[in-house]
Amino acid sequence: PAQLTDLVRDHVREVADFPAPGVLFRDITPLLADGAAFGALVRGLAEKYRGQVDAVAGLESRGFILAAPLALELGVGMITVRKAGRLPGPVLGVDYALEYGTARMELRPETISEGQRVLIIDDVLATGGTGAAAIELVERSGGDVVALAMLLELAALGGRTKLDGYQVDSVLVY
Ligand code: PRP
Ligand code: HPA
Repeated sequence: PAQLTDLVRDHVREVADFPAPGVLFRDITPLLADGAAFGALVRGLAEKYRGQVDAVAGLESRGFILAAPLALELGVGMITVRKAGRLPGPVLGVDYALEYGTARMELRPETISEGQRVLIIDDVLATGGTGAAAIELVERSGGDVVALAMLLELAALGGRTKLDGYQVDSVLVY
């Protein structure tokens, strides 16, 4: 809803030339540091998905910050989708392209049960590679992706096109 969008916009800091020259970085640390705002965000997201999901999958590392309180608020478990080499096996892995180079996300398929309705959540949708990798990992583990919830969407980077056919809910689109 519009009030969640305003809440997020009012608590995101714009940082020029971070982490590299020419990049305008959207920093969510002021939002997280404000207990009232953080709580309102988590409760607002929970209202949207209540009764529709059996698990919340957070994408390392900033996605974890949102996934854990949301899962508890919804009364479901949290699944960790992690960067390569962090999870003990057995794991599934997906390699994906970054602007420069590649990355890999991993998931323990035993943390998902067949037909489980999974909400994927992350802080930022940029090029969409991370989100697409998470979808593949959840589905190969037997889960059904209900939606991808993104706090911020950087629309100019076109990430949504990599998530075609999936419900992508961004609280705030730049
Ligand atoms: C950022 C962000 C998303 C991802 C989005 O994570 O938190 O997970 O990039 O990018 P994409 O849509 O182009 O794939 P980052 O790799 O910076 O990790 P962090 O959360 O550990 O800081
Ligand atoms: N902010 C936070 N995370 C990001 C950004 C950004 O602007 N771009 C890619 N990941």
